[in-house]
Amino acid sequence: MSETPTTPNYQSGFGNTFDSEAVAGALPQGQFNPQRPPLGLYAEQFSTTAFTAPRADNRRTWFYRIRPSVTQGDFRPLDHSRLLTAPLADKPPPNVLRWSPFAIPDRAQDFVDGLVTLAANGNAQTQHGIGIHMYLANRSMQQRVFYSADGELLLVPQHGGLRLRTECGVLHAAPGEIAVVPRGMRFAVELLDDTARGYVCENYGHPLVLPERGPIGANGLANERDFLAPVAAYEDSDAPWQIVAKFCGGLHVADIDHCPLDVVAWTGNSVPYKYDLARFNTMGSISFDHPDPSIFTVLTSPSATPGTANVDFVIFPPRWLVAEGTFRPPWFHRNVMSEFMGLIHGQYDAKEAGFEPGGASLHNCFSPHGPEAAVVEKAEASDLAPQKLDHTLAFMFESRYVIAPTRWALESAARQAGYIDCWDGLQRRFDATQAAN
Ligand SMILES: [Fe+2]
Repeated sequence: MSETPTTPNYQSGFGNTFDSEAVAGALPQGQFNPQRPPLGLYAEQFSTTAFTAPRADNRRTWFYRIRPSVTQGDFRPLDHSRLLTAPLADKPPPNVLRWSPFAIPDRAQDFVDGLVTLAANGNAQTQHGIGIHMYLANRSMQQRVFYSADGELLLVPQHGGLRLRTECGVLHAAPGEIAVVPRGMRFAVELLDDTARGYVCENYGHPLVLPERGPIGANGLANERDFLAPVAAYEDSDAPWQIVAKFCGGLHVADIDHCPLDVVAWTGNSVPYKYDLARFNTMGSISFDHPDPSIFTVLTSPSATPGTANVDFVIFPPRWLVAEGTFRPPWFHRNVMSEFMGLIHGQYDAKEAGFEPGGASLHNCFSPHGPEAAVVEKAEASDLAPQKLDHTLAFMFESRYVIAPTRWALESAARQAGYIDCWDGLQRRFDATQAAN
């Protein structure tokens, strides 16, 4: 068995075709599918775009593995009533919704057991929309791997570090970092702390890419070099494992008589990756007003309509506020796009209380939202000196499709029934007599 390093090694870049081999000479040179791959390995292509996708969008990786993936048993259904997939049965309400932090239960549950769906939109089978889940785990996955055929998985750890053992190698992701696992890739999640809680965006649509920068130029926002892919690391074990598949919204499990993480070498650009959100080069106004929050987009899954995302992953990181003569917190607004927010740590600048790390909010299509009264009062009285907004990290999954909460989310004890009341303190103050005559 190969030695799995305690701290994984990585290779940097986004969208690159990487080469990696855990054993010298395992990766074929000059062709992908030789008559007899080196070292008695089998070649297997893993494609996460259609074969015919344009070259710039095409994603595939060639695996050189101890056994091909077909050496497994048939799948059988696996019950998991809290893990759901769009389309959901119930129509969503237009109410603004907010949840307190979701508790990690005492009963033993690993990453898969601990997935609970908060919301979803679109339709996984037509490959548009997203599922939004929390993972609430207190033990590592034991001799089982998971994959979602329904979507790419964007993991946003909020509490506790994760060690992801994937077919391409090992990644660590701690709070403040994100990890993305391609649709269909098998991986096991180990906990690096006693418990783990985080958010998951299951992206049914186009794989996440970096947003265009337009007039920003060649640098800024998330830079390609800060994305880290693993290096090949395999496990040569004949112990029994299980493969848990999420497919068409259902969970299924199959037995396999060896560890399926047996890729000794690989080459390609369909890879898992991680990114430290502290590397995000935040852009903003240095004159007046502040840009739309799209300026904070880390990754985007485009839809067929230009500029109208299947999902944007947006962060609200520490940054300087310097705009002159400006109301600096997020403004009141109503939006055709639908917005799910989570908080990794600290305090979000539109809310002084109620929106807590490990909790969530949902502001759907045209549902009004914005700062609460105390925030408005402070912002209007502020002297507007440069101010560092610090010790905070919120994020948003923003989608063109209405985000439907699940019944579990609506009935959860964590739901704050009186969320709308946080705007109660906003008083009428219009006074026509102040008008200039
Ligand atoms: Fe918003």
